[in-house]
Amino acid sequence: RMMKEITGINIMEKQLAERLGIQQVILVSGDADKNPAVKKELGNETARLMESLLGGNSIIAVTGGSTMASVSEVLTASLSTADWLFVPARGGIGAVMSNQANTICSKMAERTNAGYRTLYVPDQVSTEMYQSMIKEPAINEVLQQIRCANMVLHGIGDAMTMAERRESDISDREKLKNGKAVGEAFGYYFNESGEVVHKVQTIGLQLEDLSTIKHVIAVAGGYSKAKAIASYMKQAPRTTILITDEGAAHQLLDK
Ligand code: F6P
Repeated sequence: RMMKEITGINIMEKQLAERLGIQQVILVSGDADKNPAVKKELGNETARLMESLLGGNSIIAVTGGSTMASVSEVLTASLSTADWLFVPARGGIGAVMSNQANTICSKMAERTNAGYRTLYVPDQVSTEMYQSMIKEPAINEVLQQIRCANMVLHGIGDAMTMAERRESDISDREKLKNGKAVGEAFGYYFNESGEVVHKVQTIGLQLEDLSTIKHVIAVAGGYSKAKAIASYMKQAPRTTILITDEGAAHQLLDK
């Protein structure tokens, strides 16, 4: 019975990778929407992948969110074989502390005896502030490190859920509604065709920077994220590895 289940999962992983047009999908059983323990499993798979893909002297850029927070909780010191540096992928002071990329980076570093950097910038900045902040040496240094990252670990969220979490104003919400946004990643909102309909202006990794990062790992589970995952994957680098669960996979494969 066990073997059948494993084979079934393998087939689904392949089908899903093909459907989404990405390198690889790693599936865990269950549904993160229904069972919080599934997020831990997503974390364990992420840890395994980091171990197999990363050598020493690695820079790992990380986004915020509760899934990334779960990943941070399962990392262990045995993982980091040499110098790792965790950097927040994007600015983001403003979110709940435990879900901020800065907090998650420091936790990941603490648990793996690695280093980390902090981006002291708000979640959303004006164009003027953006232009002057990127010239600040302390900020500029982190921006350079983000661009040199060999791995990015990121979450994907449902567009409206993210707009609510960010307490986006009415005009931004209108923009999302009119643009039929369904997914969000890195502060970019996507419609079903994968077009960017809105973007949160903040400092850090931009969508176009992803193409230069060797390992792009997306971690997102739960049936409620299926549409969001599909929309973002239309834009994602083809080299992306998605770690997800059966809840999202069943929905994505219409099973
Ligand atoms: O806000 C950071 C972020 O990674 C978003 O880009 C993403 O949509 C969201 O968090 C995912 O959050 P969660 O893992 O809590 O669903």
